[in-house]
Amino acid sequence: MRIEFVRPQALEASGAAAVLVFEGGVLSEAAARIDAQADGALSRAMAATGFTGAKGKSLDVVAPSGVDWSRVVLVGAGQRGAFDLAAAETAAAETYRGLKTSGAKTLTLCFDEASTAQAAQAALGVRLAAYRFDRYRTTEKADRKPTIETVRVSAAEPEAAQDFGGLSAIADAVCFTRDLVSEPANVLYPGEFARRVKALERPGLTVEILGEAEMRDLGMGALLGVGQGSRRESQLAVMQWKGAADPDAQPIAFVGKGVCFDTGGISLKSPEGMEDMKGDMGGAGAVAGALYALAARKAKANVIGVLGLVENMPDGNAQRPGDIVTSMAGKTIEVNNTDAEGRLVLADALWYTRERFKPAIMIDLATLTGAVIVALGEHLGGMYCNNEDLAGKLAAAAEASRDALWRMPLQASYEKLIESQFADLKNSPGRMGGSITAALFLQHFVGDTPWAHLDIAGTAFMKSSPVPTSPEWASGFGVRLLNQLVADHYEA
Ligand code: BES
Ligand code: MN
Ligand code: ZN
Repeated sequence: MRIEFVRPQALEASGAAAVLVFEGGVLSEAAARIDAQADGALSRAMAATGFTGAKGKSLDVVAPSGVDWSRVVLVGAGQRGAFDLAAAETAAAETYRGLKTSGAKTLTLCFDEASTAQAAQAALGVRLAAYRFDRYRTTEKADRKPTIETVRVSAAEPEAAQDFGGLSAIADAVCFTRDLVSEPANVLYPGEFARRVKALERPGLTVEILGEAEMRDLGMGALLGVGQGSRRESQLAVMQWKGAADPDAQPIAFVGKGVCFDTGGISLKSPEGMEDMKGDMGGAGAVAGALYALAARKAKANVIGVLGLVENMPDGNAQRPGDIVTSMAGKTIEVNNTDAEGRLVLADALWYTRERFKPAIMIDLATLTGAVIVALGEHLGGMYCNNEDLAGKLAAAAEASRDALWRMPLQASYEKLIESQFADLKNSPGRMGGSITAALFLQHFVGDTPWAHLDIAGTAFMKSSPVPTSPEWASGFGVRLLNQLVADHYEA
């Protein structure tokens, strides 16, 4: 699909058009113009159906006479004054979705009154809404195939909207993450994940890959224990983006759980839905996508991304329930359940990040617990944070990026639940407060670094998204959130 920006005056009527109608039935300039050309057909259709321009509603006027458009979609834009960038993105995404398989080959978004920034944001909305993971499809029913080949966006200054005013980097990064999450585990195992991340290297963005021998030397017994039942070698990917004026200025760090497949290990999961566990690397995927976005838009910040990449398999060499491993931090962990593997991977990845980079803040993203899905469903990520300032910044970035978060408590009295009879900690305290106790476990491996843990088990992939910009199972949740956080607070 191509996206073009065209001056309103230069638009030729062909294919489908979308125009804005504001609350109270107020036609936008483009809507009024087409309505006049069509001898009031749009107004009559609105009167006949009671369409008032309410946000999220639309009215498809097919083949109105007097104009060359095959159809004119009236897009409810809500209150005129409240039609902001987010509204433009949503309206564009919803419009694309509604017409995706309609037969129309060209869709023209005549959001005339929108600013150039809004046109760019609308283009981002379309790009994200048009995402599909179809590389393994060799046949498809004709009525399921998207028909739209070109989307034109009317913009007063088409040149300024090129590259979506910088937003196309965000679209590329979100789609990069969605691809990683969607890839099956026979294709995307730790080594392949590392290769795809390595391919992002460019001036300013460096990627190091550590293998098992190097991690053994570092003492990463917790991470290595998870991967020891797999035929695939565990990897640690270390990404560094140096965009600040001073390349040696203290960085911030993102850390991702990258379990390329989680069978549960010897504590084997039940079969229903286990295929979803190809997405158990969603945290690492989001961190990789965020660094991609930051590098592509040359963010003026120093940012580290560390990805713990493993596969959790049952095997003759797999770790057993009751095994005790020694983490890089020196703390010993009784692995009483091999399915609580994400925290073992993160324990070493977090400690390594803190020790090597001494970051100003550290944020981990992980599809960590089923419990967070029970608590918050699939539209909200769980946020745990040991620092009020960072928690506030993250909450604001979540709001602005619409990667929604809800703060959860690091309830100290539950520490008892992760005490072990035989080691310093145990990895699985049982079902009660399962997302909280997982966060408390991680907290043992961050020292005094301001830190946040985002449990994205519900949001990294989902059955149905709260936003029209996430049409598939894999959402890319976290990419826009982290990018927003950096843009709002960590760029000079
Ligand atoms: N990867 C899972 C959590 C998960 C579940 C992510 C569903 C996405 C969708 C994690 O490794 C896991 O198995 N957690 C266990 C922890 C328990 C053994 C303490 C869980 O949530 O049941
Ligand atoms: Mn697990
Ligand atoms: Zn897992």
